[in-house]
Amino acid sequence: MNTTLNYGLIGCGSFGNEHMKAMLMIPGVKVTALCDIHIERCHEMNERYGLDAKCYENYNDMLAAQKFDIVVVAAVDKAHAGATVAALRAGSHVLCEKPMSLFLEDCKEMIRTADETGKLLMVGQVCRFTPGFIKAKEIVDAGVIGELYFIESEYAHDYVNLPGTDGWRTDPDREPIIGGACHAIDLVRWIAGDPIETMAYTNHKVLTHWPVNDTTVSIMKFPNEVIGKVFASIGCKRDYTMRTVIYGTKGTIIVDNTTPYLTLMLENCADNAHFANGFFGTGSERSIRHQIDVSLNNHNVAAEHQALRESVLEGKPLLMTGREGAKTVAVCRAVVEAANSGKAVQVDYE
Ligand SMILES: NC(=O)c1ccc[n+]([C@@H]2O[C@H](COP(=O)([O-])OP(=O)(O)OC[C@H]3O[C@@H](n4cnc5c(N)ncnc54)[C@H](O)[C@@H]3O)[C@@H](O)[C@H]2O)c1
Repeated sequence: MNTTLNYGLIGCGSFGNEHMKAMLMIPGVKVTALCDIHIERCHEMNERYGLDAKCYENYNDMLAAQKFDIVVVAAVDKAHAGATVAALRAGSHVLCEKPMSLFLEDCKEMIRTADETGKLLMVGQVCRFTPGFIKAKEIVDAGVIGELYFIESEYAHDYVNLPGTDGWRTDPDREPIIGGACHAIDLVRWIAGDPIETMAYTNHKVLTHWPVNDTTVSIMKFPNEVIGKVFASIGCKRDYTMRTVIYGTKGTIIVDNTTPYLTLMLENCADNAHFANGFFGTGSERSIRHQIDVSLNNHNVAAEHQALRESVLEGKPLLMTGREGAKTVAVCRAVVEAANSGKAVQVDYE
């Protein structure tokens, strides 16, 4: 795993810096090129991390001038498809940030290009690498909470001071349920399977100066009659969270990405006598609680990079492929359509 691979980074803003910090933690990563339309950001990155990477303001120039094993696409959402396709065509594997794209047509082209070139395409749905969510999925898959019947997740993130470079987050095409809440949608998909149908409601009461609705609630029908709900708010006045609750016939998991433990509640059968006698107490006697420590790493970008390297160097299957990224976008698009039409929408995974 110490084999040195040559990397190029497209997009040197806030999350580009997260990628850089992660890459520098991994032996065998050599970043030889940086690209950003604001080229001064590349120079700043070189200085900040003591690199000697070449700087480009156009990714086509970068891809024409140098060869890379892996290109990381951390530019704004609308640059993902163009940069990914160009990098794949230039012969690189690609780690593309989430959302894979705002549009399904782009996703299809990205997948087609990966297939044609035989290069790996990974999408940075980072919740699949978050320790608390990994532990929750392990518990569900082991059958500890019995049969799943309801799952809810939320993406609550106040964007009021986060318009992004040149205001890209305020693009009217960047529906919050796709741009940010693709994390929550991907998470419920990962745990409960691919939703079949969705209904959704949306409103616009907080970030009224932004061109998109700021709150969306989606109800989904999953396989095996599991029901799901995703709440997305980009104006909420609270700390960032992706609180997720997973209900099974024998227990419940409460987990998020900002707390160093998850809570597992299992039925306390011995306690039923209290209820028969009319004792309701605080309600907490009803279940046995386990607090399971998890490490806090809500943007575990280093684990994404490790996973991609293991696929490139050892042929391990990729967990978060382009096809998986596109399925998440398909659900997000169905939610937007349901919210706009007021009707239930079947998710189109074609
Ligand atoms: N995985 C996560 O949890 C997570 C968190 C934050 C952001 N993101 C994603 O990362 C991406 C970047 O977000 P950010 O927070 O760094 O935004 P940012 O505004 O801080 O940085 C974006 C950078 O992209 C550059 N850029 C724009 N068009 C470009 C192009 N054509 N070629 C090269 N560079 C270009 C901008 O100049 C800017 O420097 C977005 O797609 C966002 O959705 C993911």
